[in-house]
Amino acid sequence: MVVETVVVAVWVMLPAYVPNNAAVLAGGGRPIDGGRTLGDGRRALGDGKTWRGTVAGTAAGVVVALALNLLAPAATDLTGLGLPVFPASAAASLPAGAMLGDILASFLKRRTGRERGAALPGVDQLDFVVAALALTFLIAAGWFRATFTPPVLIVVVVLTPLLHVGTNAGAYALGLKGEPW
Ligand code: CTP
Ligand code: MG
Repeated sequence: MVVETVVVAVWVMLPAYVPNNAAVLAGGGRPIDGGRTLGDGRRALGDGKTWRGTVAGTAAGVVVALALNLLAPAATDLTGLGLPVFPASAAASLPAGAMLGDILASFLKRRTGRERGAALPGVDQLDFVVAALALTFLIAAGWFRATFTPPVLIVVVVLTPLLHVGTNAGAYALGLKGEPW
C-alpha cells in the first residue's frame, strides 16, 4: 500500500530529518575544526559546523525517535498502519549519521574550493540520508533490513530532497538560515 510505505518512510526518517534543522536553530560558538586550515589553505570544515549545532542536532533527533516510540502504539491503533519502533541503536545512529553526513559533505565542499554556504546540488540534499542509512545499517543491521524494505528506501530517496529543499527554503524565508539550500 502506497500510503503505508510513505508514512513509514517519513516516520523512520524523522530522527534523521530533524537534526539538520535543529542545528540551524542551535548553531554557533566553537567550530568543530577549531578554525584550522588544511594543506590546501582551506578550512577543514568551516564555521558552519559547530559543536553546539552538532550536539543539539543529534540530541534533538534522539528525542524525536524516543517520542515516536511513545506515539507508535496509539498511532498504529488509529491508522492500522504497521509503524516501526526504534531500537536504541537506531535512535542514536539515525541522528548521529545525519550530522556526520552533513559534516563529511562540508569537508568535501572545502576540499573542492567551495566556501561556507556554497551549494552542492545533490550532495546537500542527500548527504545526511545516505550517512544516516549507512550508519544504521552498520549498527542495527537486522532492524535496518526489516524496516528499510526496497519500496521504503525508494520513497526515502525520492521524498528526502523535496522535504530538504522545502524546509531549507522555509528556514531562509524566516531569516533562520543564510542561504535557501
Ligand atoms: N550548523 C551547526 N553545526 C552543524 C550543522 C549546522 O552549527 N553540524 C548550523 C551553522 O550555524 C550553519 C547552519 O546550521 O551555518 C546551516 O547549516 P549548513 O547549511 O549545513 O551549513 P553552511 O553554513 O551552509 O556551511 P557548509 O557550506 O559547510 O554547508
Ligand atoms: Mg549549507
